[in-house]
Amino acid sequence: MSVGDKNNTERVAAAKPLFSPGDIERLKETFGEVLESGRLILGEQTQGFEEEFKTFVGAEHAVAVSSCTAAIQIALRYHNIQGREVILPTNNFVGVVSAVIAEGGQPVLAEMDPNTFCGDTDDIIARITDRTAGIIVVHIAGLISPDIKRLRQVCDERGLFLLEDASHAHGAKIDGQRSGALTDVGCFSFYPTKILTTCVGGMLTTRNPELAAYARSVRHHGVGGSLEDIVLLGNNWCMSELHAALGRSQLQQTDANVDHRNRMVARYRQGLQDKAWLTIPVCPDNIRHAYYKFPTLLAPEVDCLGFRRMLFEDYGIENGAIYNPPCHLQPVLRQKYGFSEGLFPVAEATLSRQLCPPIHSGITESEVDRSIASIIAVARRFGLE
Ligand SMILES: Cc1ncc(COP(=O)(O)O)c(C=O)c1O
Repeated sequence: MSVGDKNNTERVAAAKPLFSPGDIERLKETFGEVLESGRLILGEQTQGFEEEFKTFVGAEHAVAVSSCTAAIQIALRYHNIQGREVILPTNNFVGVVSAVIAEGGQPVLAEMDPNTFCGDTDDIIARITDRTAGIIVVHIAGLISPDIKRLRQVCDERGLFLLEDASHAHGAKIDGQRSGALTDVGCFSFYPTKILTTCVGGMLTTRNPELAAYARSVRHHGVGGSLEDIVLLGNNWCMSELHAALGRSQLQQTDANVDHRNRMVARYRQGLQDKAWLTIPVCPDNIRHAYYKFPTLLAPEVDCLGFRRMLFEDYGIENGAIYNPPCHLQPVLRQKYGFSEGLFPVAEATLSRQLCPPIHSGITESEVDRSIASIIAVARRFGLE
């Protein structure tokens, strides 16, 4: 049996966390120490992870929380979005929209850029009104929005907050500066599929000391000086010491993992270059892509869902799209706001063509080669080759 063989159905995972045997041994020891210490939240591990993460990102403050959604809600609560609008791209994880709604804001969805898969900057700016509180920019797939500086300037001029959702972009850089330190506030997810995982968890990064102090209070029920002294409306959004220990271990590998992802994507690019039926977006020279995902586009005439299904069912190559359907076509938001097809034609036309082949920090060259050969084999069966 050869690579790309129809019957070679051993799976290639679309995403997978990476823990080396050495990491696991060291973590077992650290977990033992944490459990014996009796300090399960807000201890040495959390403090250490925050210090190391803030240094990694180049931010002045980092506050560990239970998820990225919690980090986003804290930032939105700090900016008091009640009754005001927050602009964010429709090509997004629906939980970000839910966070805006949960904090009493009005989500204003915007169109996407088909070349970067990030939000369409012109459309985002055109949607600013006197009710706008701020903008959430999402570094989709690990590509820092190439227009981040323009967005920052507009937000500064108009007195709006700019929140970076860097859930896909651990370790990504633009002009040498890391994601999470580019705007007023950065929010990271450490969900199991992410480049850096703590099983579940998140981090808020900022240069604003007041926001950092606010986040430290709100993540722990709004405590003031003590647990008896509740000064803000908060929640239980703490990260546990075990999760923080895991984060510290993962952080040490993040740059190497991002380098590995870049090397594997270069291999995909070489193996899939010059295919008339596949568009592979280029990454601008001033950006270090994190390649949380590797989105490509099948030609419009290809039955994309059929292609993806065959790739998985006949060749074992897991694959996906980020995000299809886009937020405005998710049942919950259709029902709540009456959204329907045609609202964001670029997002709809682009995302329905998307194919994200497997990429993760532990993927091997031979798995990438199998994915490439399988994609080409499917293309042949679709009469494209
Ligand atoms: C872009 C984006 N934002 C936010 C989130 C939410 O992260 P979490 O699950 O840590 O709350 C995710 C999720 O997985 C995401 O992909």
